[in-house]
Amino acid sequence: MYKVLLINGSPHANGCTAVALQEMISVFREEGIDTELIHVGNKAVRGCIACGSCERLGKCVFNDDLVNETARKFEEADGLVVGSPVYYGSPNGTVLSFLDRLFYSTSFSKHLKVGAAVVSCRRGGNTASFDVLNKYFSISSMPVATSTYWNQIHGFTAEDARKDLEGLQTMRNLARNMAFMIRAIKDAKEKYGTPAVEHGAFTSFPDGK
Ligand SMILES: Cc1cc2nc3c(=O)[nH]c(=O)nc-3n(C[C@H](O)[C@H](O)[C@H](O)COP(=O)(O)O)c2cc1C
Repeated sequence: MYKVLLINGSPHANGCTAVALQEMISVFREEGIDTELIHVGNKAVRGCIACGSCERLGKCVFNDDLVNETARKFEEADGLVVGSPVYYGSPNGTVLSFLDRLFYSTSFSKHLKVGAAVVSCRRGGNTASFDVLNKYFSISSMPVATSTYWNQIHGFTAEDARKDLEGLQTMRNLARNMAFMIRAIKDAKEKYGTPAVEHGAFTSFPDGK
C-alpha cells in the first residue's frame, strides 16, 4: 500500500493548516492511500547547528524523537506533505528548523518521492512561504505535486479556513494529483527503470577561479 506522510508545522493541532491537511487526508483515504499525520508545530524543535555529526551517525545528533523518528517514516513513505502557517511572510520557525534537520541529516534517497507544500495564512505571504517549502523537495530530486491554485488556505481560525471553499478544493485536487503521481511513478519505474543519478561533483572552486 502506498503511504503519504503529512507534517503539520502549526502549533495548532486543529487550526487552519490542519483543516487543509485533513481535506487532503479524506481524499487519500478515498484513493486507498495510507496516511500518517505528524504534528511538529507544538514541539520545541531546535535548529540545525551544522555540526556535521549526521554524516558520521546517519541521523541527527539531537535525539528529540521527532526528526530521527520522522526520518525513518519518511524513508518508507512514497510522498511527503509539509503544511505550515505563514509567519511574517515565511513558513513558521518550527517547521523550518524541523525541515533543515530532517533533510540535512538523512542520506537515504528521496529520489521520486512526491512532495507537496501547503501553506495557511490570514492574508499575505503565502506564495513566498510556498516557494520556501518547495525548495526542500526540489533539491532532493522529489517531483512536486501541484493543484488548481498554489496550495494555500486562508483564515485566522479553523472556522475561517473551512469557509475557504477554493482553498479546500485546491487541497482535494492536490491530493488527487499526488495520488496519481505516486501510482504513475511506481508504474513508470517498472516500465522504464529508475533514472540514474550522478553524485560526486561539488562546486567548491578550490582553485579560486
Ligand atoms: C507570529 C505570527 C505571524 C503571522 N504572520 C502572518 C503573515 O505574515 N501573513 C498572514 O497572512 N498571516 C500571518 N499570521 C496568521 C497565520 O498565518 C494564520 O492565522 C494561519 O492561517 C494560522 O494557521 P494555523 O491555525 O494552522 O496555525 C501570523 C500569525 C502569527 C502567530
